[in-house]
Amino acid sequence: MKTRLVVLISGNGSNLQAILDACKSGELDAVVVSVISNKADAYGLVRAKNAGVDAIHFAKLENETRQEYDTRLADYASACLPDFIILAGWMRILTFAFLNHFPNRVINIHPALPNTFPGTHAIERAYEAHQRGEITQTGVMIHLVPDEGVDDGPLLATQEINFIQNESLEDFESRVHQVEHELLVNTLKKIIKEKQ
Ligand code: GRF
Repeated sequence: MKTRLVVLISGNGSNLQAILDACKSGELDAVVVSVISNKADAYGLVRAKNAGVDAIHFAKLENETRQEYDTRLADYASACLPDFIILAGWMRILTFAFLNHFPNRVINIHPALPNTFPGTHAIERAYEAHQRGEITQTGVMIHLVPDEGVDDGPLLATQEINFIQNESLEDFESRVHQVEHELLVNTLKKIIKEKQ
């Protein structure tokens, strides 16, 4: 039986695309059963539809609390019978109202090494820190999401990335994304194998 993945996104969805491509090619013995975005204009929703995958903008209702939203989101995701929930550029903190439904099954990717640059704009912040001579390398991490901590949790994989002298931010960003896509697919491959 193929491993069932629900992917949560907020934007471009290039990591989602890497997963979709790997499912299609057979590299991953998995199927993306649903893509959920908290943003209506997330390009990842288009990527999902182009791949024939169920995709939804899961909008926050007026006056809805964070707990109520997360409970509703958990109900929706549970109905998809996922083996794993992948946070692929999901830019919203998930509370226990969601996480309690999926212990050890929520996986996040973050474009920095553990305990460095949590939150948004991690790639730019690492680049700027390097420009100031503060760091010589950064990286990508993939981890379980056990609680409401931001970009923190038991590690599944890390990959270091060295800076290249005089590299533009744009080139550096695309190099980081390339590493993300490969590390994400390879890590999922490993997890899926262990599960089987
Ligand atoms: C990625 O860098 C991911 O690690 C971070 O947000 C970015 C999303 O990129 N959490 P994309 O939407 O997958 O292209």
